[in-house]
Amino acid sequence: MTGAVLLDASSATDLERAGRLLAGGAVVAIPTETVYGLAADATNPIAVARVFEAKRRPSFDPLIVHFASAGDVWAMCPLAPPLARRLAERFWPGPLTILVPRPEAIPLVVTAGLELVGVRVPGHPAARALIASAGVPLAAPSANLFGALSPTTAAAVFEGLGSRIDAVVDGGACTVGLESTVVRVVDDSTVEVLRPGGVPNEALRAIGLDVVDGVRVLERPLAPGQLARHYATHTPLRLVAAPDGRRGAALLVVSGRVDAPGYERVVELSPEGDLRIAAANLFISLRALDAARLDTIDVIACEPVGLGAAIVDRLSRAAVREEL
Ligand code: TXA
Ligand code: MG
Repeated sequence: MTGAVLLDASSATDLERAGRLLAGGAVVAIPTETVYGLAADATNPIAVARVFEAKRRPSFDPLIVHFASAGDVWAMCPLAPPLARRLAERFWPGPLTILVPRPEAIPLVVTAGLELVGVRVPGHPAARALIASAGVPLAAPSANLFGALSPTTAAAVFEGLGSRIDAVVDGGACTVGLESTVVRVVDDSTVEVLRPGGVPNEALRAIGLDVVDGVRVLERPLAPGQLARHYATHTPLRLVAAPDGRRGAALLVVSGRVDAPGYERVVELSPEGDLRIAAANLFISLRALDAARLDTIDVIACEPVGLGAAIVDRLSRAAVREEL
């Protein structure tokens, strides 16, 4: 493959072209409000296999399937429980992935052999337009090589996968900047959160639900989102409580301002302390600091509350463990 074609999400002609490519079995990176996804026709097992190959992703890690509307989800997944429909009414389009029973139309390669499939309707209008243009639901993991930082711009996708995929649709910087929250419906009023993300637990509780923590940190790659070291930078990353001004190091401050003389570079994700802004800047700032090739990236994290829980989850998985 010679390299991905760059398409523009604001051009109707380009959206149509991307839709045709996807319908024909191509692998195309698409913008969503969370992170860029590496999309293929979810009903075409050969196209889906190409996504795993391009990402060098192990085939036992399931993909999320994206639809243009909730109506399209229920039409293809009629066995979805009532709570799935309630969650969809409240949080779609948006950063929530709900596990529902897998219909025949979604091949087992998508779910890595599981009988539940993760479905979501993305909030980015260009993502929904692309799905509608393809005329099929799109299976899409984050558009990065396995284990690397998720991309939140088209340029970041190109850097990692430009030579391995058919096209990249540029829809601008992702506004949420963190992946979707993945939930399993346990009963009529309980969800299990398998991956914290753009919809905080507090928002799930606000509609009267009980939230069970299903996040597991695994040493072996059963599900990469659950891997101990994932979302990784090349530069070693350390979580620190306070700046120690190490020479040759960078400091990343998630929320608020920190006076830190001695560091080569200091980046404050949201000096005003707005976690939505910190989340939107997280991956792109980590990429920029990683590219500076310093000795370490020290990080002062935030409280794991609200969106902060997903931010801390990603940072802990990116961090080097210094135990033993
Ligand atoms: O925001 C997002 O979710 C982005 C955009 C592109 O939609 N997608 C994304 O996909 O982050 P990915 O593949 O990088 O992460 C999906 C996570 C994985 O940790 C996977 O194990 C879990 O969701 N997952 C997906 N389907 C599942 C299933 N059937 N059962 C259990 N976990 C599942
Ligand atoms: Mg991912």
